Amino acid sequence: MTLPANVHVVDHPLVQHKLTLMRKSTTSTASFRLLLKEISMLLAYEATRDMKLSDVEVQTPLAVTNKPMLEGKKVVLVAILRAGLGILDGMLELIPSARVGHVGLYRDPKTLMAVEYYYKVPQRLADREVIVCDPMLATGNSAIAAVARIKRSKPGSLKFVCLLACPEGIKNFTEHHPDVPIYTASVDDGLNDHGYILPGIGDAGDRLFGTK
Ligand code: URA
Repeated sequence: MTLPANVHVVDHPLVQHKLTLMRKSTTSTASFRLLLKEISMLLAYEATRDMKLSDVEVQTPLAVTNKPMLEGKKVVLVAILRAGLGILDGMLELIPSARVGHVGLYRDPKTLMAVEYYYKVPQRLADREVIVCDPMLATGNSAIAAVARIKRSKPGSLKFVCLLACPEGIKNFTEHHPDVPIYTASVDDGLNDHGYILPGIGDAGDRLFGTK
C-alpha cells in the first residue's frame, strides 16, 4: 500500500525493537504495559514535532536571554477507552501538563461498528491541539467515530496516534478524516475475519490489563 502523505510511520530502531517484544505472545502483562508506555513516549515525540514555539525572556545564572518555549494553550490528549489508556500514560510522561479527555466506544461484535457509551473532554477545545490515542487502527470505526465526535467541538487541530495500523483502517480513516494525520509504529498486513490486525499484538486491552 502506498501510504497517504499524512500517515507517519515512526520507524526508529528503538520503537521497532520494543514493538517486536510487544508482539510476542509470551510477553508478560507488566512488560507489555511498560513497552507500550515507552513506545507512546516516542510516538508523542514525533506527533508533537510541529508544535509552535515563541521566545520568552529568561534569566540564567549568567545572563538574560530570549529562548523558545511552547506557545498557545495546553495540548489535549483524548484516550479511546479502554486500550487508549495505555498510550495516554506514555504521552503524559512527555507532556505532563496536557489536559485529558476520554471517549468510551465499544465495537459491536456483529457489525464491528463503534457504539459510544462515554464522552468527557475538556471544555473549549478551540485553539487547542488535540491528540486522539488508541493502540489499534484496525477497521478504523472507533477512531473515525471518536474524531467525528471531537470535531463537533471545533478543536484547533487534531492528530491520531496509534501503536499499529493496517491498510484497511488507514483507508477507512483517511476517507472520513483526510485532514487528520496518523502517527503509528507500524502498518501491519491486514485484518482477520474478527477485525484483528495481523500479525498484530492480539487484543490490546486484554494484554494491557491482563483480562484474558
Ligand atoms: N483491537 C485490538 O485490540 N487488536 C486488534 O488487533 C484489533 C483491534
